Amino acid sequence: MKRLSIFVSGNGTNLQRIAEYFANNKEVEIVNVVCNNPKAYAIERAHRLGIPVRMITKAEFNSPEFVQEMAVLKLDLIVLAGFLWKIPAGLIQAYPRQIVNIHPALLPKYGGKGFYGEHVHEAVVAAKEAFSGITIHYVNEIYDSGEIILQAHVALDEKETPDSLAAKIHQLEQAYFPVAIEQVLFRR
Ligand code: GAR
Repeated sequence: MKRLSIFVSGNGTNLQRIAEYFANNKEVEIVNVVCNNPKAYAIERAHRLGIPVRMITKAEFNSPEFVQEMAVLKLDLIVLAGFLWKIPAGLIQAYPRQIVNIHPALLPKYGGKGFYGEHVHEAVVAAKEAFSGITIHYVNEIYDSGEIILQAHVALDEKETPDSLAAKIHQLEQAYFPVAIEQVLFRR
């Protein structure tokens, strides 16, 4: 049995998709959802999916006790699915190549502090890029710079808006993220 924890801050569409993808897979269990934002719709989704939610404050998240608490869960993988806090060094060291993130652009472009969600798409459209996409990568101590697992591209139209680009990126995320997680879990 592979045990996952999914960290979220927002809508939770990726959480939903991952949970549905693995719903009938007896080898994968999502043991909890960790959420830093009390207003996140992801909380509602987790409740409906029957997954326990651990709400965290910044002080808790950055404490050694949180690493110990997670250790009890005997996790194989932590999945950052739209989680917007930087991961503390202690957690990264406890899970080498066992934390994966999805970023809504083609890293190393449009990554780093401040580049998340719609801000990424606004910047990509403003720069009139021909392509954008998604990057699924391992998390290391430098923001958005861990080893890349998978990238998928999409072309921008002449009349592309941040919203229309977000919809395209969303489709890529739905298609690729659960499959990439499965590959990481089973090293296929
Ligand atoms: C996703 O588009 C994800 O790529 C992005 O946040 C969104 C979360 O959507 N992540 C980042 O920007 C990380 N820097 P969701 O809550 O509906 O899954």
